[in-house]
Amino acid sequence: MKINGKTYRTIWFENNLVKVIDQTKLPHQFIIKELKTVEDSINDIKTMEVRGAPLIGATAAYGLVLSIIEKNDLLYLKKSSEDLILSRPTAINLKWAVDRMMQKLSGVNNSDILKLALKEAKAIVEEDVIFCKNIGLNGLKIIEKIAEKKKNTVNILTHCNAGWLATIDWGTATSPIYHAHKKGIKVHVWVDETRPRNQGANLTSYELNEEGIPNTIIADNTGGILMQRGQVDMCIVGTDRTLSNGDVCNKIGTYLKALAAKDNNVPFYVALPSSTIDWNIKDHKKIPIEERNSEELSHVKGLDKENKLQKVLIYPQKSKVMNLAFDVTPAKLVTGLITEKGVSEASEKGLRGLFK
Ligand code: MRU
Repeated sequence: MKINGKTYRTIWFENNLVKVIDQTKLPHQFIIKELKTVEDSINDIKTMEVRGAPLIGATAAYGLVLSIIEKNDLLYLKKSSEDLILSRPTAINLKWAVDRMMQKLSGVNNSDILKLALKEAKAIVEEDVIFCKNIGLNGLKIIEKIAEKKKNTVNILTHCNAGWLATIDWGTATSPIYHAHKKGIKVHVWVDETRPRNQGANLTSYELNEEGIPNTIIADNTGGILMQRGQVDMCIVGTDRTLSNGDVCNKIGTYLKALAAKDNNVPFYVALPSSTIDWNIKDHKKIPIEERNSEELSHVKGLDKENKLQKVLIYPQKSKVMNLAFDVTPAKLVTGLITEKGVSEASEKGLRGLFK
């Protein structure tokens, strides 16, 4: 998708280096970072310079490529894979990508391993682009139906950033929106600011602006009243891990939005590639939920009068802070799961119907 009229992906491999967009500086500064070592990849994921479930999976896959370039040694590769998996625990795509890479590389001799690792990392990236595109085409049908019935602009609420910046291209929740816009359907997006890190305001609104899609940033608590007033036609969010029973783990605050949607008969869709499905964990309480640094809440970042990026404290210095990064929306609150293979109900039966 576009930034300043130029088409980008979020990650690419060039001259034995991995290049990514530093998302901690957006929307104020556009900086491309080079990752040279597996340690760089791990730090980039930990500091959230790259973030979003599919993108951290791709970064981890390329992290293993960098590990082989640094030191073509099986023990080092194994340690790299373990460290990568631990870098962020909630989004399942990270472990999925590392496991897929390690499986492909198992038993491969030293002279072939780099070529094969590179091929598999590229395959993960290209597959995500196709999956996200298909999510868009499947979600488009839902938006089209609403537009036909309403005969007016379709208002879509989204939470956090499940846009192209969270994937490689297209995004998950935003892909149906981009496809609708390209087809000439009038859409307007309510963008939840998404505290603590403001991924909605800083990333979703930014990328929608760059693609010319009308959008309005709202405080996280505003969705409820907009739904009561009939100003939201549908919600589409992303997910970091969806259980086989259809329970959806996503950015903190998603659950409350789904509750409000249910109370107001607003359809609540979750968009995801199959790499985000956890077929193993059956009980959502077993999902590892990241508890992040309290500074993400107590401090905010922005431009000062001299256009310099500054971080300032907004809480009382003595206050205790808790910063859970994700919550779980039970399947019963989800209208449907928009995947690369089609739209299913949020249930084991629904998901197994699409992914045999
Ligand atoms: O903490 P983040 O910014 O990595 O959280 C991202 C989200 O919660 C997204 O909604 C999710 O990863 C889906 S991305 C297509």
